[in-house]
Amino acid sequence: MEDLAARLVRQHAETARLLGVDFVPAYKPPGVENQASEPPVAVVTPAAVALVTPATAAAPDLPRDRDASQRALDELRARYESDAPHKQFVTAHTRIVWGEGDPCARLVFVGEAPGEEEDKTGRPFVGRAGHLLNKMITGMGLQREQAYICNILKTRPPDNATPTGREIELCEPYLRDQLAIISPEVIVCLGLPASRALLRSEESMTRMRGRWRTYTLANGRQVPVMPTYHPAYVLRNYTVETRALVWSDLVLALERLGLKPPQKEAQAVS
Ligand code: URA
Repeated sequence: MEDLAARLVRQHAETARLLGVDFVPAYKPPGVENQASEPPVAVVTPAAVALVTPATAAAPDLPRDRDASQRALDELRARYESDAPHKQFVTAHTRIVWGEGDPCARLVFVGEAPGEEEDKTGRPFVGRAGHLLNKMITGMGLQREQAYICNILKTRPPDNATPTGREIELCEPYLRDQLAIISPEVIVCLGLPASRALLRSEESMTRMRGRWRTYTLANGRQVPVMPTYHPAYVLRNYTVETRALVWSDLVLALERLGLKPPQKEAQAVS
């Protein structure tokens, strides 16, 4: 029977492959070296990673003023801090997790709310779900810094509770302004609360994911939105099917940006 360590390594490799990342850390827990039933794990060495064509090679250089966008985001953050909408509900936060990335990103990921790691660091998606999100972004041939990553709520809910309607209502105007400043070409909503909040829909994730929707920015521009499963959900439902669905949603997002998933230059090592 497959032991836990071997299963973790195999699942990690499968996820990496499905999410388009032919990379697993060159780490193998003791005792999994010679699992006769397991195929060799595909590993991309740093040199091979450099061979992967960045998807952004094909991206048009949009004439946007990054400094102006960053200044506008900073001003909006200052307004959020002074308004402090989170003071109107119970939080378990020590830091505000505003969001980070390219202030003129073509692609924005919107999550739910910061968790423990995010609260400690003040940065979105830096915990376990964040690591998976990073792999998803890398698999798309992008770097995390090229996207913008934020949440509906900017403060950690107690016990990582799902944001309530009232909490979303209080925080959504700031997300709305944040998105208008960045003015992305595509938004990927991670999980049900983000998808429902942005799309004002009551539909299930199963119905929403994989289909293009539209979000109207505060400046009136309409942006295509792709809802997909939250990385934390993927970690909890670590099946080939779930990962394949997420990957297909991400490929749709790439296509919408006029990009293709990078060619993989994998090297098999035992
Ligand atoms: N989950 C989220 O929705 N956002 C984060 O920043 C981290 C975990």
